Amino acid sequence: MNEGTGATPGTVVITGGGTGIGQAAAQKFAVLGWRVVVGGRREAKLAETAALVEKEGGSCLTHRLDVTDGESVERFFDAAEATFGTVTAVVSNAANARYGPLEDFSPDEIHREVATKLVGGLYVAGRAIRGLRAAGVGGDILFMTSLAGAQPWPLHLPYAAASAGLEHAARTLRMELEGTGIRVTTLRCGETMGTDFSTTERESGRIQSANELWFRRGLLRHTGLMTPARVADAIVAAITLPADYQYDNLTVIPTAPVGDLPHSHEEWGAAMMERYLPSS
Ligand SMILES: NC(=O)c1ccc[n+]([C@@H]2O[C@H](COP(=O)([O-])OP(=O)(O)OC[C@H]3O[C@@H](n4cnc5c(N)ncnc54)[C@H](OP(=O)(O)O)[C@@H]3O)[C@@H](O)[C@H]2O)c1
Repeated sequence: MNEGTGATPGTVVITGGGTGIGQAAAQKFAVLGWRVVVGGRREAKLAETAALVEKEGGSCLTHRLDVTDGESVERFFDAAEATFGTVTAVVSNAANARYGPLEDFSPDEIHREVATKLVGGLYVAGRAIRGLRAAGVGGDILFMTSLAGAQPWPLHLPYAAASAGLEHAARTLRMELEGTGIRVTTLRCGETMGTDFSTTERESGRIQSANELWFRRGLLRHTGLMTPARVADAIVAAITLPADYQYDNLTVIPTAPVGDLPHSHEEWGAAMMERYLPSS
């Protein structure tokens, strides 16, 4: 069995690995003996991940990466392969999104969200497949997607559309790659706390009106949130499955806490404060 297939550790690339879920996944892979390569635009954040990986006794290469730029993706993979050999697993995790009605988005903002999640995911997958085919080995490509890509999710449109597009790309790619030993998985992720993703929109002030609409439409129903480490467990579970089977799409969502569900957005907000910011 080649390295990186099933439970045998190999080399994993994690885009957006300097923060949040990507950082948590880097640590989990390191504990299991995988060589880890993390990419993102903020090198200081990547260095924080490397320190955490090394604390677990693992090896971590950090390299600047902008997934929206094909040449940057090429340089990133070249560096990964020069350091650790064939990249046997890729977690396409980089994303950004803001909230608000479509008409409030600038053309640049729409472009950035689609270019990062969808186009960047395809750049990264394409480059990874070339490396795996050249080495003649199988491996894993895991795309992070979102509940917002599976059902209408207003005020989140460009990102939601990019996520939906990525899920269809994954279905297509999975069939295209049959016979190569390369597995393709989508991890459809629900609400996760403590990552840049939500804190940015809290700071922008747009999160309140978005949450209110999402509560009214039944998209937010309780106060459960996952930690990045929980989501990272699902990433690792998919990539370390024995090579003869795979998840096609895995969905992880927080469990509703035991007790009464909030009846109004105000009740939901108060319950969130009590649960996650009890001292304020
Ligand atoms: N948090 C949630 O509730 C939630 C829900 C559903 C799905 N997800 C998915 O989970 C994944 C991880 O998100 P997260 O919650 O951990 O948020 P996060 O902390 O904001 O992570 C996103 C990462 O993407 C990187 N990134 C953004 N643009 C990039 C680019 N052009 N090139 C390379 N890297 C780029 C960011 O680093 P730099 O800015 O330094 O480049 C950042 O490290 C995303 O794919 C997101 O869609 C999250």
